[in-house]
Amino acid sequence: MSKLIRVELGDRSYNIHVAPGLLAQCGQFCRDLKLGHRCLMISDANVAPLYGHIVRESLLEAGFMPHVFVVPAGETSKSQATLSLAYDEALLHGMDRKSFVVALGGGVVGDLAGYAAATFLRGIPFVQIPTTLMAMVDSSVGGKTGINLPQGKNLIGAFHQPSAVIADLSAFTTLPDREYISGLAEVVKYGVIQDADFFASLEKNADRILAREPETLAQVVARCCECKAEVVRLDERESGLRAILNFGHTLAHAIEQAAGYGKFLHGEAVAIGMAYAAALSVSVAGLSNEAAERIIRLLEKFGLPAAVSGLNWSAVRRAMKTDKKNAGGTVRFVLAREIGRAEPGIEVSEELLEEVWNVIGQ
Ligand SMILES: NC(=O)c1ccc[n+]([C@@H]2O[C@H](COP(=O)([O-])OP(=O)(O)OC[C@H]3O[C@@H](n4cnc5c(N)ncnc54)[C@H](O)[C@@H]3O)[C@@H](O)[C@H]2O)c1
Repeated sequence: MSKLIRVELGDRSYNIHVAPGLLAQCGQFCRDLKLGHRCLMISDANVAPLYGHIVRESLLEAGFMPHVFVVPAGETSKSQATLSLAYDEALLHGMDRKSFVVALGGGVVGDLAGYAAATFLRGIPFVQIPTTLMAMVDSSVGGKTGINLPQGKNLIGAFHQPSAVIADLSAFTTLPDREYISGLAEVVKYGVIQDADFFASLEKNADRILAREPETLAQVVARCCECKAEVVRLDERESGLRAILNFGHTLAHAIEQAAGYGKFLHGEAVAIGMAYAAALSVSVAGLSNEAAERIIRLLEKFGLPAAVSGLNWSAVRRAMKTDKKNAGGTVRFVLAREIGRAEPGIEVSEELLEEVWNVIGQ
């Protein structure tokens, strides 16, 4: 059931380990990386009581000196104030340039801890130990780190690749249903943008995935990590191809903002955004009606929303990011040509944007 995926990035290459029961081995993994003795383990108030002791003991047994910093759970911890406290803790613990950071938690902890590592003493190593599905298949891989500003999400950040990603599938046993299902949106995304066979296997194994069957999950998480690793290898800093990972995200970001952050989980908004992008793809990218219906059916099978109500189009349109290369009254989207093949930068007219919204945003 154990999987190893290599992210090939020259001297920044690293391994992603996927298996149940890895938390207790994380000290050994860190020793193999030849990291310094002192480390700052950042976790949140939900995850630390569940798994913090296992990781801490494993690090101690392997000869490290871990210092634990627990932040409140939730998006508000991706803040300048919390980051500043992380630096304080690192200094208090006597961390130097050989020391490292361990991120134990979901995407919030991973982004915050990764950015702390990217910037402390001009950058020290860090190890990702993701505990949500979202973090295992998406945020822990690829080196995007960052925090929010009051003006918006992820406005401060850095590319800083981890030294390793340790994905312990046993963490799913405590993950709340809503968080788990939200992560499935990103899983579906990889099938749509990169791998038709994977998409078909998700359709076939949907019940096993919903039942969190460990063997199936090992395959699913590993395949998603391979897909992301491949895109990151080809375009680490998002100068082109990496943008396909944003399939469904243009509308998702707008919905999250227009509805007020916290109403939708990120994956829920991405699911609605993918249903929207699938409909746009039928109109302008040659996706068949049948393929679009398969995408929507799979989202619904997983219990994800494929439509939204109670949001006004002009508010959503205003919130839609202007950095998606607006040109001459058109917006560019990542769209699917067929299941398994997506393309960034496809123009969509203002009229079509609204027409499709009238179907998705009843
Ligand atoms: N860097 C990237 O490439 C990237 C990509 C996607 C998302 N993100 C970021 O990731 C964040 C969202 O990540 P997330 O969805 O993991 O949210 P999260 O980190 O807030 O975790 C969700 C909730 O689940 C809890 N939790 C985590 N693991 C648990 C476990 N095993 N058992 C019980 N509870 C657990 C957390 O305490 C939290 O309450 C956002 O800030 C987003 O911007 C970053």
